[in-house]
Amino acid sequence: MSPHAAVEPAFWDGRRVLLTGHTGFKGAWLALWLQSLGARVTGFADCVPTDPSLYELARVAEGMESVTGDIRDPEAVAAATAGCEPEVIIHMAAQPMVRRSFVEPRATYETNVMGTVNLLEAARTVPGVRAIVNVTSDKCYENREWDWGYRENEAMGGHDPYSSSKGAAEIVTSAYRRSFFADPDGPRLASGRAGNVIGGGDWGEDRLVPDVMRAVLAGESVRVRNPNAIRPWQHVINPLSGYLVLAQALWEDPAAADGWNFGPADEEAQPVGALVERLAELWPERVRWTVDDGPHPHEAHYLKLDSSKARGRLGWRPMAPLDAALAATADWYREYESGADMRQVTLDQLAALSAAGA
Ligand SMILES: NC(=O)c1ccc[n+]([C@@H]2O[C@H](COP(=O)([O-])OP(=O)(O)OC[C@H]3O[C@@H](n4cnc5c(N)ncnc54)[C@H](O)[C@@H]3O)[C@@H](O)[C@H]2O)c1
Repeated sequence: MSPHAAVEPAFWDGRRVLLTGHTGFKGAWLALWLQSLGARVTGFADCVPTDPSLYELARVAEGMESVTGDIRDPEAVAAATAGCEPEVIIHMAAQPMVRRSFVEPRATYETNVMGTVNLLEAARTVPGVRAIVNVTSDKCYENREWDWGYRENEAMGGHDPYSSSKGAAEIVTSAYRRSFFADPDGPRLASGRAGNVIGGGDWGEDRLVPDVMRAVLAGESVRVRNPNAIRPWQHVINPLSGYLVLAQALWEDPAAADGWNFGPADEEAQPVGALVERLAELWPERVRWTVDDGPHPHEAHYLKLDSSKARGRLGWRPMAPLDAALAATADWYREYESGADMRQVTLDQLAALSAAGA
């Protein structure tokens, strides 16, 4: 068993990092974190996907280079990659919504599968790339609605276009690793599979916490679908710490070039309804909810990850337990409502949550 591995500021200080999808929810948190660690970050994304956004509220662009481009455009991806000569690449740009994937299946596959191919092709041609982390999803597994957590060696699949696009991105990753990145002196390629993340600054459509917070801020009651569906909720800082620890491990050891689950402890896989109830306790009289009976497109009922491999071999541990994650999330939106400096609030939360989990 490896000892507990932490995010190493000395590793990231001055490190050239290409982060795709930096204008999104997870990307903006990670860009801020990398900036606070002293990394030289270049972001690549097609737009700022929401309004409001963490990216704009926290003025994420201030501490990095930001390239606007479409991950489906191989030339744009190649030019951005060559332009920043990254040592580490973290790939997050994606169409990440299950429900939108039913409406836009082609764009979802083009972005999530061919976008990954475009980035990996670019990484092949730029010298100096040493570690690549492809961010996929817990939904990459063929969901069997069973009681156990999914392990990394289980079959890829996916019932809907989004989930299957992430399963396909995993298969692409595995093929590129074996076909083009097998040389231990060349780029080392791994993937990170994480579940539903929560945290301040998420404004994504059709997501539970953003839906709850939009309703709170509008003084309304939120309609919650699938209250019994169980998800491995965790604060966004947990998988982000996994991606960073994984990049550090890749740098040191070619054996880290593999697929890795980054999920919360078992008991933190909770039903949707329990999560909303806890938010209602944390923000009394403001969080109000009713059940939305549907009809809804198919969503997996039960989904848990087994993260034993990351815990045992990388020494990774989730940083923030669920209750701290929910409290920080409710606080973030309260601060937003009161007009606070959201860059400072987000940096303070990053420091507090990562210190508590170190
Ligand atoms: N949020 C979650 O709960 C969750 C769970 C599992 C996996 N993920 C994965 O994590 C990653 C980030 O998710 P997120 O929640 O931050 O999503 P998000 O929608 O907030 O951000 C997506 C990012 O990708 C960029 N993007 C989308 N299409 C693009 C295109 N064609 N070209 C260039 N950039 C494009 C957007 O501009 C944005 O920067 C995604 O790969 C997603 O599948 C997210």
